[in-house]
Amino acid sequence: MSQPAAANPLASMMTGYWVSQAIYVAAKLALPDLLKNGPQTAEQLAASTKTQPAALYRLLRGLASVGLLREDEHRRFAITPTAEPLASDAPNSQRSLAIMMGEEHFACWGELLYSIRTGQSAFEKIFGEPIFNYLSKRPPQAQIFDEAMVGVHGRETGAMLDAYDLSAIGTLADVGGGNGSLLRGALEKYPTMRGMLCDLPGVVDRARPLIAAAGLADRVQTIPTDFFAAIPAGADAYLMRHIIHDWNDEQSLKILRNVRRTIGPAGRLLLVESVIPPGNDPSFAKLLDLNMLVIPGGKERTETEYRELYLTAGFRLSGITPTWADVSVIEGRPV
Ligand SMILES: C[S@@+](CC[C@H](N)C(=O)[O-])C[C@H]1O[C@@H](n2cnc3c(N)ncnc32)[C@H](O)[C@@H]1O
Repeated sequence: MSQPAAANPLASMMTGYWVSQAIYVAAKLALPDLLKNGPQTAEQLAASTKTQPAALYRLLRGLASVGLLREDEHRRFAITPTAEPLASDAPNSQRSLAIMMGEEHFACWGELLYSIRTGQSAFEKIFGEPIFNYLSKRPPQAQIFDEAMVGVHGRETGAMLDAYDLSAIGTLADVGGGNGSLLRGALEKYPTMRGMLCDLPGVVDRARPLIAAAGLADRVQTIPTDFFAAIPAGADAYLMRHIIHDWNDEQSLKILRNVRRTIGPAGRLLLVESVIPPGNDPSFAKLLDLNMLVIPGGKERTETEYRELYLTAGFRLSGITPTWADVSVIEGRPV
């Protein structure tokens, strides 16, 4: 007789992708949106999603077995609070993240062995080019990516603003700021602060209406930027959240040296990243590091590695402020 996976941690780990792919299909079919107004049967949901009712029932039952749905005695399924963040309009919605994980990311993790053998990005092997080139040619996937970043990192905005004082910053540049959600959070907290959103042209085009809708169009400049070419001047602090972890040391130094070229003598460099702790304790950063290897070909770093990177790029690492989320603010001052 087989042992239930829940009773066997190794089996749960090995079959973990069964659950993640089931979540992906639920998100792709927008089941959490469809269930928002009350429970439905597999047949009702199959009619809305153009899927096969018996197969869909099996998906729903599987999701109920891990606590994401609940089946009643009439074979109707209701959404549980755990799955509510998968709805499209949930705060920091996880829907696009689930879709991105189930599509490109799942394919790339299937090539983890390639990345471990070669040290190279599996994404480039599969899709034939680096992820940000790929996204720049595919607006629908790029929009999913921008939203997925809010899904995975959105909660870090409040954590960072709680932990790190930005009150002395007149103008904050968010370099690689995606759809501007972090900048919007900072400007809401500091009403006299101005912002510069610097990202690739297509990304800032998609962010502009969101910034206008938040009533911040007159306080935020949206600046198409290639941070490997140059970083726009004029900010008191240059913030980069989950940027440097996308790149290897050589590429990271190029970006940081471009910041160094443009930053004023009293300026601040603020990286927001998950710093890898020493030892064997569980840490999101240690697995995120593998994701960085297979997708963009980058890496998570230890405190020592950040110190070296800063020094080589012309900065002194002046402090690391941990937050209640899995990230720290790594502050640098020009030397
Ligand atoms: C991992 S995402 C992080 C987004 C955002 N900072 C956050 O924390 O949610 C990396 C960002 O870097 C941007 N990016 C990639 N290459 C870039 C380049 N060469 N110049 C400027 N931005 C770039 C991407 O468009 C994307 O928004």
